[in-house]
Amino acid sequence: MDQLQDSLGRRIRYLRVSVVDACNLGCVYCMPSSRVLFTKFSNLMSPSEIGTIVEAAAEVGTRTVRITGGEPLVRHDIAEVAGCISDVGLIDDIPISTNGIFLREKAESLSSAGVTRANVSIDSLQPGVFREVTRGGDIGRVLEGIKAAARSGIWPIKINTVLMNGINDGELVEIARYALDHDYSIRFIEMMPLKSNVAFQPKLFFPAARAKKLLEEHFHLSAVSHASETGPAVNYGVEGYQGHVGFITPLSGNFCSRCNRVRVTSDGRLRMCLFGDNMVDLVGIIRAGGGRDEVAAKLREMIQFKPEKHYLEIGKTSSETLFAMSQVGG
Ligand code: 5AD
Ligand code: SF4
Repeated sequence: MDQLQDSLGRRIRYLRVSVVDACNLGCVYCMPSSRVLFTKFSNLMSPSEIGTIVEAAAEVGTRTVRITGGEPLVRHDIAEVAGCISDVGLIDDIPISTNGIFLREKAESLSSAGVTRANVSIDSLQPGVFREVTRGGDIGRVLEGIKAAARSGIWPIKINTVLMNGINDGELVEIARYALDHDYSIRFIEMMPLKSNVAFQPKLFFPAARAKKLLEEHFHLSAVSHASETGPAVNYGVEGYQGHVGFITPLSGNFCSRCNRVRVTSDGRLRMCLFGDNMVDLVGIIRAGGGRDEVAAKLREMIQFKPEKHYLEIGKTSSETLFAMSQVGG
């Protein structure tokens, strides 16, 4: 077995699969307020097509496959999708990213199908603010969904909070306390400029360093020793708590040099970088009669085109094709 590695020596052990680009919510930083055209359900990858792509990725060294969206749980066959991923024996970690609305109903079947852990977005604990930011979401359902996930053995749980100036900067400590009191981890994420939010992203941008300062007035944060761990978040331990506090700084601190991931879009295209526009059709290989080996060959061929970094700046996105994050899954 070989290990996929790009031209800069970054080892790619992590695949993020967007299983659907539709979402039952419409977070302001992720989607435009106007209607978005979603991929037709019939054009989405089937569970077995996803299974074949994951088999190919496993063959070239992938060990973690994250299920993302859009909102993965709007797919009625999501447990079957998870099952096809966990049937690929080499994948030992299957996290899911979800908004949590349907988690109460789906947690048990996801856990049985092999989902190991979950990231859930909570941008506010205040029902009115949450409803506004998500364009209609019910925070009560999300909190129940998270509890159901933990009860069914989906663990650990990470809470994702996008930092928003004037919207949630006044309740960051409270959100952190909610997470830590439940032994969850929390990660604060700087808002990235996308084509759909670029007009107001500068106004809402809140730097992670300011969030860290606010938190340090209430918690004792200490750098986590395994700093060699790849991935974007910089994590801190919190005295008296099990969970970690992390910061993801796409704008104030570029982390592309430790990128360990590639993505597959919900219509089956390999995307080497969130903000890199070169994509190649993987599911087409399968639909033309190819299998695991052909897909693995394409992965090996394409990995050299993984861009070095993104070129985001406040108020300036760097992708022409990434309109809403729901297309690619964060
Ligand atoms: N900036 C930062 N994170 C984003 N997400 C979606 N859009 C953005 C953006 N513009 C992330 C959030 C959310 C997850 C589904 O995707 O973390 O929790
Ligand atoms: Fe949906 Fe997640 Fe985008 Fe919010 S951030 S609109 S929950 S995909």
